[in-house]
Amino acid sequence: MPSLDTIAPDAQAAGQGHLLAAAERLEGDARDAFVAQLDAIDFAQVPTWIERYVRAVEPEGVPASLEPAPYYPNDPTNASNPWDEDKYRDIGTGLIRAGKVACFTVAGGQGSRLGYDGPKGCYPAGCVTNKPLFQVFAEGIRSTSHRYGAPVPWYVMTSPLNHDATVAFFVEHAHFGLDPADVMFFPQGTMPSLDKDTGRILLASDRTVATNPDGHGGAIRALAESGAVEDMQRRGVEHVSYFQVDNPHAKVADPVFLGLHAGAPNSSGEFSSKMVAKSSWDEKVGVFCKADGRCRVIEYSDLPESLAKQTRQDGSLRFNAGSIAIHAISIDFIGKLASDAAYELPFHRAVKKVSHVEPDTGEPVEPAEPNAVKLERFIFDAIPLAGSSIVYETDRVEEFAPIKNATGSDSVETSRALQTERAARWLEAAGVKVPRHADGSVNACIEIGAMTALDADHLRAHDRLPDAIEPGAKVAL
Ligand code: UD1
Repeated sequence: MPSLDTIAPDAQAAGQGHLLAAAERLEGDARDAFVAQLDAIDFAQVPTWIERYVRAVEPEGVPASLEPAPYYPNDPTNASNPWDEDKYRDIGTGLIRAGKVACFTVAGGQGSRLGYDGPKGCYPAGCVTNKPLFQVFAEGIRSTSHRYGAPVPWYVMTSPLNHDATVAFFVEHAHFGLDPADVMFFPQGTMPSLDKDTGRILLASDRTVATNPDGHGGAIRALAESGAVEDMQRRGVEHVSYFQVDNPHAKVADPVFLGLHAGAPNSSGEFSSKMVAKSSWDEKVGVFCKADGRCRVIEYSDLPESLAKQTRQDGSLRFNAGSIAIHAISIDFIGKLASDAAYELPFHRAVKKVSHVEPDTGEPVEPAEPNAVKLERFIFDAIPLAGSSIVYETDRVEEFAPIKNATGSDSVETSRALQTERAARWLEAAGVKVPRHADGSVNACIEIGAMTALDADHLRAHDRLPDAIEPGAKVAL
């Protein structure tokens, strides 16, 4: 059990003596639990965090030499950049069949924008069935595993705030038909929240340090420390297919993308990404750019408006490669990122309101203004650390129907409309008549589960499809 005496010198040296005083005021189990929280803080790093992210805040800025990143176009017959889709599909299919691919979902976020009280993966997403997001992915993984005749293990990163609720949800639903031995959950790490004026670590109560999840970039350390990387190596997994919990249209393991990642001559096979053309200059997605010869994502809040608005001769956006946060990452690269200090991901700061107690008086404080610096890592900061990272364009309707907000853009309403549109396209490609309004929108609500089909080709091979969908119908296939 950690002792206060061993922690004290580092905590004092880091200017965090108020935490020691708070520990002294506690007794018994409460004190032990609090000391364990202090022991988890890397006090040796705290002065650097304060110096860099509290005192001398440099605006995140963007490199001067920013250009759009090149990408493999969605249409492989594209005149200026043709590529051999079948060849890469074969490579990717081979990897899945050989059991070398696992799925990895980041599900540690708090879903506060959605106003949903629970792990975001439990949110009812299916436009007809109300299937929760976790079920949508679980079925995608089962169906992929059946289609290619190989196990596809699934690693789910939670946070300390939603870990137990997430695991309980899977148990309650019998892991949605997956073998529990092939689903592994692990919580991401946390970072202490810092007072934005003093750099002192805030106390959430007299016996709790105020912390925040360390961002999806925390996945690197969590994958290594949880034993997930070791588990993957034991199974012979070489690459993970990474996607966010908020996007029910994410293809859980896309052979073409995995094939490009592992086999394209300009890919180091370490970290690859998917993009869609941005819907507008101010769409809230990161943008794939190139700077100093390296690919990177510039987050929407950091891309200067003057660049975001630049257009090409044909009027399309010059910086149009929007990140949908779908990546393929090699296990070797994750190992390197986790173990080599030169590959440590940077922190990003966000100034937020954090309720806390005054350390000296124990008085609760409900700040009226943002009072705390939260530090997070972003997974896409690994891109410029890879030898050569490629980007592959995919179709927005096919692969991007995120549920982020309660209403408006990227909401359950827009996601459900996209689910119907995708289903309609697949049905039409299979010769099924789908009713459409004069403006082209579908006059029905249609959901196609992954156990029925993973894509349009898969659906076409289905032998029991209806001839037509009734106008106004709600259909789940
Ligand atoms: C994110 C990307 C953005 C991309 C967009 C695509 C960031 C900073 N930005 O934006 O570039 O274009 O998705 O949809 O990521 N998560 C964790 N742990 C955390 C924080 C987040 O697991 O500590 C997970 C969430 O559960 C979610 C995902 O990461 O699945 C995205 O996080 P969020 O903060 O919602 O990012 P966006 O602003 O939507």
